[in-house]
Amino acid sequence: MQKLRINGRYSLNGEVNISGSKNAALPIMAACLLCSEEVALDNIPALRDINTMIRLITYMGVEISKTSDNTLKINAHRIKEKFAPYDLVKTMRASILVLGPLLARFGEAVVSLPGGCAIGARPVNLHIEGLKAMGAEIDLKNGYIHAKARQLKGCEFSFKPVSVTGTANLMMAACLAEGATILNNCAKEPEIVNLGEFLISMGANINGLGSDQILIEGVDKLEATTCRVIPDRIEAATFLIAALITKSNLTLNGALAEHLKEPMNLLKEAGASISVAEDFIEVTSLNEIIPVSFTTSPYPGIPTDIQAQLMVLNVLAQGESSIEETIFENRFMHVLELQRMGANIELQSNVAKIKGVNQLQSAQVMATDLRASAALVLAALVAHGETEIDRIYHIDRGYENIDKKLSLIGAQVERIES
Ligand code: UD1
Repeated sequence: MQKLRINGRYSLNGEVNISGSKNAALPIMAACLLCSEEVALDNIPALRDINTMIRLITYMGVEISKTSDNTLKINAHRIKEKFAPYDLVKTMRASILVLGPLLARFGEAVVSLPGGCAIGARPVNLHIEGLKAMGAEIDLKNGYIHAKARQLKGCEFSFKPVSVTGTANLMMAACLAEGATILNNCAKEPEIVNLGEFLISMGANINGLGSDQILIEGVDKLEATTCRVIPDRIEAATFLIAALITKSNLTLNGALAEHLKEPMNLLKEAGASISVAEDFIEVTSLNEIIPVSFTTSPYPGIPTDIQAQLMVLNVLAQGESSIEETIFENRFMHVLELQRMGANIELQSNVAKIKGVNQLQSAQVMATDLRASAALVLAALVAHGETEIDRIYHIDRGYENIDKKLSLIGAQVERIES
């Protein structure tokens, strides 16, 4: 296992190239299962989760070639296993995204139930109910979802609550279903729009992307195409926060401001100066940090995926704030580790009450999940002394070359063996 060793209190300066979005790339790779022709994908980030998806669909028989570090050619013309084993699904919940495409194209799929997760229960009942509404027969046996349908049929289905991977799974399945599907209360995340546009470019008939209601008219088959994955808005937001807490000037190349409106408004309230151009965002901050209270919500609200990182900002702010987490019930695992670094945070159910402190101290800390580990990296960048973050395989799931990117802008970061 590897650790990150970070020496804090260096100011950052320069340019960061924002990678492709993990949460867009994973469903897009799963969607390739819908098509029997070759698909070329660009801006795929080099991440552990992407490697897990490559292993999963390769196991099924998909042919994949890496044409460069960030491009893949995927050909799913021959599938021998319509099966997603527990060993792979347990390491990455997004593996559930193969369920809809396999069932729609082949009429059968056996996919492990993802099981527990560090940040909350994370059920997949909506994926299952939606596919049943399309006529699938689904049995849950020995920890697996066994799904069958000679031909999925269009239906009307409403998500409650809004689910990102649920929307992706049913949208993919509906592309090859017979007739029209109406999905209500859909996720509006840019990653869903990226997936939907990819499906349309393969020949799917989809309307309403980015709105509450998505309408899909099934087609017989999907065809070869190309797709560019959108930039990772969560990685970009993490670097914006890094600039603010280290009082630095950073240019985020490739970041898309239109996907970050609410987070950027919050960061401006906290004291950041942000200017945006078509393909970069520049951020500076020399001021004291103003505390910003917020509640996480589905897009376009403040994403739960930056709640932990924004907490570090509030921990260092001049005054009090509160953070309400509404998406996942247990997404405060970073609090205990931040407290060990000197943060003043009190947890009251799904609300964190924070009193700003002037300084964080270094400590040996442990990453508990992907975004929590990003928060610990941010805290380490401003802490006095040397912080060691263990179990950084979590951060490697979702941040491409985080240590190299930080080193390039002046952070003192080393990757070491545990
Ligand atoms: C996706 C993202 C994740 C992000 C999350 C919320 C990917 C690969 N992952 O996760 O990074 O943190 O969106 O923006 O894109 N729910 C149900 N039943 C279901 C499905 C979900 O009750 O069948 C509930 C969940 O418990 C949660 C809420 O719906 O409270 C949102 O979950 P969902 O949007 O599905 O999260 P993911 O798609 O797993």
